[in-house]
Amino acid sequence: MPHLSPVAPCDFLVFGGTGDLAMRKLLPALYLRDRDGQLAEQTRIFSVSRAGLDDAGYRDKVDSELQRHVAGELDTADRARFLQRLHHVTLDVATDADWANLSTAMTEGADPAAPAPIRVFYLACAPRLFGPISQRAAANGLVEPTSRVVLEKPIGHDLASAREINDQVGAVFTEEQIFRIDHYLGKETVQNLLVLRFANALLEPLWNAGHIDHVQISVAESLGVGGRADYYDGSGALRDMVQNHLMQLLCLVAMEPPSTLDREAVRDEKLKVLQALRPMTGAEVLRRTVRGQYGPGLVDGAPVPGYLTELDGPSRTETFVACKTEIQNWRWAGVSFYLRSGKRLASHASEIVVQFRHVPHSIFPGIDDELIAPNRLVMRLQPDEGVRLHLVAKRPGPGGIRLHPAVLNLSFAETFQSRLPDAYERLLMDVVQGNPTLFMRRDEVETAWAWTEPILSAWDDSGEPPKTYPAGTAG
Ligand code: BG6
Repeated sequence: MPHLSPVAPCDFLVFGGTGDLAMRKLLPALYLRDRDGQLAEQTRIFSVSRAGLDDAGYRDKVDSELQRHVAGELDTADRARFLQRLHHVTLDVATDADWANLSTAMTEGADPAAPAPIRVFYLACAPRLFGPISQRAAANGLVEPTSRVVLEKPIGHDLASAREINDQVGAVFTEEQIFRIDHYLGKETVQNLLVLRFANALLEPLWNAGHIDHVQISVAESLGVGGRADYYDGSGALRDMVQNHLMQLLCLVAMEPPSTLDREAVRDEKLKVLQALRPMTGAEVLRRTVRGQYGPGLVDGAPVPGYLTELDGPSRTETFVACKTEIQNWRWAGVSFYLRSGKRLASHASEIVVQFRHVPHSIFPGIDDELIAPNRLVMRLQPDEGVRLHLVAKRPGPGGIRLHPAVLNLSFAETFQSRLPDAYERLLMDVVQGNPTLFMRRDEVETAWAWTEPILSAWDDSGEPPKTYPAGTAG
């Protein structure tokens, strides 16, 4: 049984509590933490939405969604206890009316003698509502010094809108109270990247331009945009994946060793990577980036429609992006970092590949050093989470020294024989515990936008549409 730190009593207020994210990720994550005994007995979960549901109606809805999303891990007694924690408050957050219902629901049934629970405002709704919700929550006396707010990505659609949201939320909550979530940072392999780099003396001396040729960070999805076409069309792969998830992975791969795992020490080092990214503008953007949009094709042998059919209209939004960048500092001078992400690709696979340089000299007769496959460290985020180190070994037997590629494979599932929790399980508990290490600080988000924005402008200025790729291919 893994070691669990029970978290303090807490009231979760999920704005957008009937939405897709709440149903697919947040409530299943909270259920699983509850099942494992991590939630305090008094913890309550309030869904806030316009759905017009009462508590019973909401509990029924969540119950059926849990059966879809937590399937094999549902236990009758745990499920009944969890459902009792749930409440629904009908509220249009875009207006001032009805906020008193939320205050009433929260005070009803609370033990007045008990210390006030930590209040977590989880904003799983459109970013334009982040400011108004924060401001109305404060005006209605709901924000305490121990409260925290969680902001889902995207935080804005460019630097100016991100700043505006950060200013509005920052007028109510201090930076210590704001948790900007990037669920990639809660993934097991991503946290393992920190351990791999900094708990093994082996890698760090090699972790630089002297030994590493290039790094590839790829997040490939086989799914299309499906029912999210409306949101996605205003976003595209660069804003949806690169500006946040891929750039955060890049930071963890490339940052200097922080002196401790302290929240600010880690985030300071990540920020320095973002600040050192080589800016790209104008014609250089067109040389160093590729944009694509999926057309119809075959996925797992079945025909699937193209993006424009799913959207039912014309669009220049990219569903695939690849770009080549560099980090301008001593450690990484001259090393290319390739960031790549796309939808409706041949497979669902996310990984970070660190490609080492060739051996400097071959001692093997007839084998040029360029023919000896360079080492590769592959950190697999999903599926089959784990780490593989590609080496060269001698093929056994007589016949002289014959070189053969071989792989040391650390599969987390096989090695640790335990269930890998979903990223949200870890991150939600970090919020209650007040640990923002795996969350994005304001300066990180804004620096990432400052790097991304000129790419978006250059694409717009070029007037070129993205290239089409058949669904189910490599993009
Ligand atoms: C989300 C994006 O942040 O991450 C989605 O908005 C994407 O478009 C998803 O599909 C991918 O997350 P995961 O955990 O499934 O790799």
